[in-house]
Amino acid sequence: MINEYLNDNINAENIHIYDTIGSTNTLAKEMALSGAPHGTVVIANEQTAGRGRFGRKFYSPMGSGLYMSIILDTSKLNQSDITRLTCYAAVITCKAIEECQGALCKIKWVNDLYIEDKKVCGILAEGVSSKRNGSIDKIIVGIGININTREFPEEIKDIATSIAYKPILIDDKILASCPKAEDIRDRIAAAIINCFFAEDGDFDNEKLMAEYKSKQMIIGKKVIVISGKDKYEATAIDIDDEGRLIVRKEDGEAESIFSGEVSIKLG
Ligand code: BTN
Repeated sequence: MINEYLNDNINAENIHIYDTIGSTNTLAKEMALSGAPHGTVVIANEQTAGRGRFGRKFYSPMGSGLYMSIILDTSKLNQSDITRLTCYAAVITCKAIEECQGALCKIKWVNDLYIEDKKVCGILAEGVSSKRNGSIDKIIVGIGININTREFPEEIKDIATSIAYKPILIDDKILASCPKAEDIRDRIAAAIINCFFAEDGDFDNEKLMAEYKSKQMIIGKKVIVISGKDKYEATAIDIDDEGRLIVRKEDGEAESIFSGEVSIKLG
């Protein structure tokens, strides 16, 4: 039960848990447009249309992951930049996985979490506007963590894993009987919610970006920058205070990259 892990200041009535839905982000968007308050959380045991960045699918089979979306009201935040909130969510989620599962987690700019060399989590933050002028007044932060998914579709099977199976090397017997998947899910979900809505949790950009950088796995590494049809090799050298990735191209020129435009593969 998630409730037993929530801090006292969290209103458990705002947490909606479903069995099977299309996408928690899509439902959270609809709820935000219908007036759901800051702090509303949607969790599903299974998503049939889980979404990632660039219209990719997020594989979300029944009972083996955390599929969660949090509604944030920008008027209640001292920070409403989507990239920074994605960074914030990445840091919080990384820590929650480390605390609840003991696995050392790293961030791959901008929104992926890895254990060793495999992805265990993706984050998708989306703006919602219920205003006539189109300004964003709510942000949906969607977090998907593979808790004990055993088998992945062909296209991601070499790059994805689950937190319950890494970094511990596990044979099939133990894989089949990972007993605490639901409990791990609830603990991690609660740890993330507790942190997002901590009473003293004012958003401190300097501290956040320092933590975000310290958990990065790509700084100093060769990467492939993919922007539409363009593709080039570079070295990731830094992340600036706005959450942009700075890369050095092969001709020596430095470029700063916005998260919305490109995806990065390790070279
Ligand atoms: C990515 O890997 O590009 C981001 C994946 C985000 C997946 C989560 S699961 C909960 C929420 N609902 C969705 O449809 N997507 C996010």
